[in-house]
Amino acid sequence: MNKSVIYPGSFDPVTLGHLDIIIRASKMFDHVVVAVLRNVAKDKPSFTVEERIELLREATKDLDNIEVVSFDGLLAEYAKKRNITTLVKGLRAVSDFEYEFQMALTNKMLNPDLETVFLTTSSKNMYLSSSMVKQVASLGGDISSFVPSCVLDRIVDRLSAKE
Ligand code: PNS
Repeated sequence: MNKSVIYPGSFDPVTLGHLDIIIRASKMFDHVVVAVLRNVAKDKPSFTVEERIELLREATKDLDNIEVVSFDGLLAEYAKKRNITTLVKGLRAVSDFEYEFQMALTNKMLNPDLETVFLTTSSKNMYLSSSMVKQVASLGGDISSFVPSCVLDRIVDRLSAKE
């Protein structure tokens, strides 16, 4: 059976933590759909959805079973539309757990066929998040060990120009 999985997120911007989950999922599943949320209600994003897709495509260009897309609305509906029954999420710490658990249960309520698989993050990425990357870069810090090297310059250019 050809098994696909969705890895959803904001990816504003992609970090080495995201890339680690994508690489590991690409070994477990035949096809990984990295799905960038379009309807972000939270803070003003630093990168447009198209830019985030471009950065993700560049960062995953050496993997042949990755598709990068955007989606609108409910993830559970998008998964149904794509006939995909598994979601993968990364879990960094206990602090992530409650929110991720709530999302997994909500998605299951909305689409009972949808299973969420959690991958524990690699220990070197425990602390890593897009918002931390943004803060460090905007204050002139070195983010080269936080984001994929092939997209480092583009991320630094954008984030260091802010604030
Ligand atoms: O990278 P993030 O911001 O933690 O990703 C969150 C995301 C995109 C996975 C989540 O917000 C999401 O699935 N949004 C789509 C809307 C939805 O389906 N909401 C109900 C389930 S929580």
